[in-house]
Amino acid sequence: MHERIKSMDFKQKVVDLINEQVDLPKEKINLLIERPKNEKMGDYAFPAFALAKIEHKNPAEIAKNIADQINDENFTSIQAVGPYVNFAIDHAKLINTTLNDVLKDGEHYGDQTLGDGNVPIDMSSPNIAKPMSMGHLRSTVIGNSIAKTLEKVGYTPIKINYLGDYGTQFGKLIVAYRLWGNEEDVKKDPINNLFHYYVKFHEEAEKNPKLDDEARATFKKLEEGNEEEVKIWQWFRDASLKEFNRIYKELGVEFDSYNGEAFFNDKMQPVVDELKEKNLLEESQGAQVVNLGEDENPALILKSDGSSLYMTRDLAAAMYRKNEYDFVMSLYVVGNEQGEHFEQMKKVLKKMGYDWADNIHHIPFGLITQGGKKLSTRKGNVVFLDQVLQDAVNLAHKQIEEKNPDLQNKDQVAHDVGVGAVIFHDLKNDRRDNFDFDLEEVVRFEGDTGPYVQYTNARAQSILRKANHETTVDNLTLTDNQAFAVAKQLADFPAVVAKAAEKFEPSIIAKYALSLSKKFNKYYANVRILDEDDQLNARLALVQTTSIVLTEALRLLGVNAPKEM
Ligand code: ARG
Repeated sequence: MHERIKSMDFKQKVVDLINEQVDLPKEKINLLIERPKNEKMGDYAFPAFALAKIEHKNPAEIAKNIADQINDENFTSIQAVGPYVNFAIDHAKLINTTLNDVLKDGEHYGDQTLGDGNVPIDMSSPNIAKPMSMGHLRSTVIGNSIAKTLEKVGYTPIKINYLGDYGTQFGKLIVAYRLWGNEEDVKKDPINNLFHYYVKFHEEAEKNPKLDDEARATFKKLEEGNEEEVKIWQWFRDASLKEFNRIYKELGVEFDSYNGEAFFNDKMQPVVDELKEKNLLEESQGAQVVNLGEDENPALILKSDGSSLYMTRDLAAAMYRKNEYDFVMSLYVVGNEQGEHFEQMKKVLKKMGYDWADNIHHIPFGLITQGGKKLSTRKGNVVFLDQVLQDAVNLAHKQIEEKNPDLQNKDQVAHDVGVGAVIFHDLKNDRRDNFDFDLEEVVRFEGDTGPYVQYTNARAQSILRKANHETTVDNLTLTDNQAFAVAKQLADFPAVVAKAAEKFEPSIIAKYALSLSKKFNKYYANVRILDEDDQLNARLALVQTTSIVLTEALRLLGVNAPKEM
C-alpha cells in the first residue's frame, strides 16, 4: 500500500498550508478555495473575506500576512493579490513527479490505505424463478465497482449474492408447476417457464381463492423440510442460478457467497426469541411487530400465521454477517425503493443493543426507464438482460467492422466493447439518478460513453506500438500547457479513487475517465507526439501513463480495456 500518494493532491496541500496559518477547519477551507479567474494568476486561490469578519482586519492585509508566512517547494509562487492568496503549481515538477510515480507504480498507482477489514457487500440478489431485472443489473455492476474500489483503498470486500430464494411465492410456484407445468419445459427454459407458471397462478387465484390456501400449505411443507417440496425447490433454484451465472460470466462478475434468503430459514427463530427476550416484540392486528416510534411504521417480524418475512430474514442475515465476518462496514446495494426497509432493519438492530448497526449502509440507486416508462416484470414490460448484452455486442461488432475490419480477435473485442458500454453507461451518472436506456446511445464510440474511453486507450496503445520505444524515467521534462493538463489529471487519480471509495460512488471514477480521455485526445490533436526531439521520451511517457491510468480506471468500473479496437 502506498500512503505517500496523497501528497500529489495539490489542492489538499493548499488546504493544509492555509490551515496551518488560520483558524478555520480544513473542510471549510476546502470549500472556499477557488480557481483564479485568470490562469496566469496561478492554479488555486484562497479568498480571505471569510476571515475579515472574524479578525476585523481588511481582507487584503490578511491575504498578505498569510502569503508571507507560507513557503512550500511544491509551488513556484504563493502570492497575495488583493484579497486572495494565489498558489501556482510548479508545472514541470508536477509533470515530472506524476509521470515518475505512475511509471513506477503501474497498475498499483492510486493504491492507498484508507481503512482495512472485511466489508460484506450485498449485491445483485435477484429472485429465483424470475427474469433478472435491470435493477438487479444495476446492483450487480455498482456493487462490483464498489468492491474493486474498496479493495484498492485497503478493505477486504466480500461479495454476497443474497438470492431471493425463499418466501410464500415458492408455495405458489410449486402449486402452479404441479397444475400446469412439466419437466421438459422447465429444463429447456427454466426462468421463462417458471415465471409463466407464476403469472398464471395469480390469474387463476383471482378466480379461485382456494389456490392461495394450497400455496400456503405447500410453503409450510417446504419450511418444514418436506422431501418432495424441498426437491422441487432445489431444482428450481439450481436451474435459475445456472442462467444467472451465464449473465454474471458475460459481465465478468464473481461472488464470494450465494447465501440467499433460504439459508436463513433455521437462523430466524433465535432472532425472534431474542426480540422476545428483549421485550421488543408487540402484537399488532395478529402480527408480531417491533414498534419504532410515533410517526413510523412498525417493522413486521411475523405474520399472523407465524410465518417469517423479508425483514425477519434480513435481521438474521445481518447478525450472521457480523458474526461470520466481523465487518467494519456492511453494505447493501439495493434500489431506492427499499430505503425504508433498511432504515427499519438498522433501527431494530439498534434497539436490540447492537451499535454496529451504525456501520450498515444502504447504497441506493435509481430506476432504469425506457422511453420514460418504468420497467415492470409483472406487466410484461421486461427487458431481457441477455438480450441487451447480446444486442450491445452485436452493435459493437458492426462498429468494428466499419472502422477496423482487419482487427485481430474481433469477437473478444466486440464483447469487451459491447458489455463494457452497458456497464459504463450504468455507472457514469450519480447512482441515485434515474436514467433512460437507449442501446444505440450506449454503444456509441463518441460522446460520454465507455467505448470512447476504451477507444482513447487503444489509441494511446497504438501510438506506443508505432514508437516502439522503451520509456525511461530519466528525462520526463515537458513544458507545454496541454501536457500539463493531462498530467494534472493523472495526478488527481489517487484522490479520485479515495473520493469514490468514501462516497461509494462509481460515477466519480467514470467521469474522471471521460475527462482524462478528453484531455488526452486534445493533446493528441495538438501535439506531434512522435517527433524525434529531446522531449520524445517524456511525451511517450505521458501516453503510456495515460493508458495505465485509463486501464486502471476502467478496471475499477469492471470494464475491460482492449489494446486495439
Ligand atoms: N431479492 C430482493 C429483490 O429483488 C433484493 C434483496 C436485497 N438484499 C437484501 N439483503 N434485502 O427485491
